[in-house]
Amino acid sequence: MQTKLTELLDIKHPVIQAPMFLVSNVAMVTEAMKSGIAGCIPALNYRTLEELRDAIQTLKKNKVEGGAFGFNLIVNKSNVKYKGQLEVLCEEGCDFIITSLGSPEETIKQAHAAGIKVFCDVTDLKFAKKVEHLGADAAIAVNNEAGGHRGNLSPKELTNQLSKALEIPVISAGGVGCKADIDKMLSYGAEGVSVGSPFIASIEAGVTEEYKQACVEYGAKDIIMTERISGTPCTVINTPYVQKIGTKATWLENLLNKNKSLKKWVKMIRFSIGMKATENAAKKATYKTVWVAGPSIEHTHKILPVKAIVDKLVY
Ligand SMILES: Cc1cc2nc3c(=O)[nH]c(=O)nc-3n(C[C@H](O)[C@H](O)[C@H](O)COP(=O)(O)O)c2cc1C
Repeated sequence: MQTKLTELLDIKHPVIQAPMFLVSNVAMVTEAMKSGIAGCIPALNYRTLEELRDAIQTLKKNKVEGGAFGFNLIVNKSNVKYKGQLEVLCEEGCDFIITSLGSPEETIKQAHAAGIKVFCDVTDLKFAKKVEHLGADAAIAVNNEAGGHRGNLSPKELTNQLSKALEIPVISAGGVGCKADIDKMLSYGAEGVSVGSPFIASIEAGVTEEYKQACVEYGAKDIIMTERISGTPCTVINTPYVQKIGTKATWLENLLNKNKSLKKWVKMIRFSIGMKATENAAKKATYKTVWVAGPSIEHTHKILPVKAIVDKLVY
């Protein structure tokens, strides 16, 4: 199927395997490329810049015709490794960068000079217009069915609105679990889709069997929003542990948040505790099950190889 996204990345199907913190890895993206789609990894999945460089070099070797690979950069101040990560990506080269949480201006400037395309996560028209003006190659429209930090508008409303108002292609992110969902997004004006949650339960994903199995056993009705991970609402599976700890910031956090000089520190501490809890839940055997996923796990019935998941999406 030919769309502006398949043309931009020279891929067979208009699908990006979305970047997922702690989940995405080289094995998943390699299989995504072999299956004729693009794959993306958060640069933050690598603790050091050398590990990031190794991953890029391996993906360059593994790249096949019909596939493409990219990395996700958090471009705001919370990512202290941002400058180094951008430098390594531009030195080594990759097909595309997805920016999230902040202004993509510097990334676009440097990535374009290195021949790398830049797609920007957006959740509304105002920011989408801004990234278009800055020179983004496509806007990723993160809707209210997405896993992780979701947007506020429905897939139809957001995709429709952005595709009418922008010149650059719109890629819809959120709520895609089968071929019918892709067809729907394309009918709303999208030129492609970015799919995350359905790939958590893949053989290649770098997380525990328990997390993968939870994506098989739970469904759309079990996804809730919690502020207990990063401080910003995020979608998680409503496990007994999540119910036990609650989804709202505690009274103490709320109280401290009201204090201007303490607010920044409370946020940073909450973020780091939350990230550690998610990392432990994703990577180790623990009863503290804080598993990030979106409602599109509704379509996940078995742990499968990436290739089988792609085939289910595109054929
Ligand atoms: C477990 C998980 C981790 C995620 N981590 C990131 C991330 O590090 N950076 C990012 O830009 N988006 C992240 N996302 C959002 C995805 O890139 C994508 O927008 C989303 O998965 C699309 O919705 P879907 O899950 O319904 O396919 C994450 C999503 C999930 C489910």
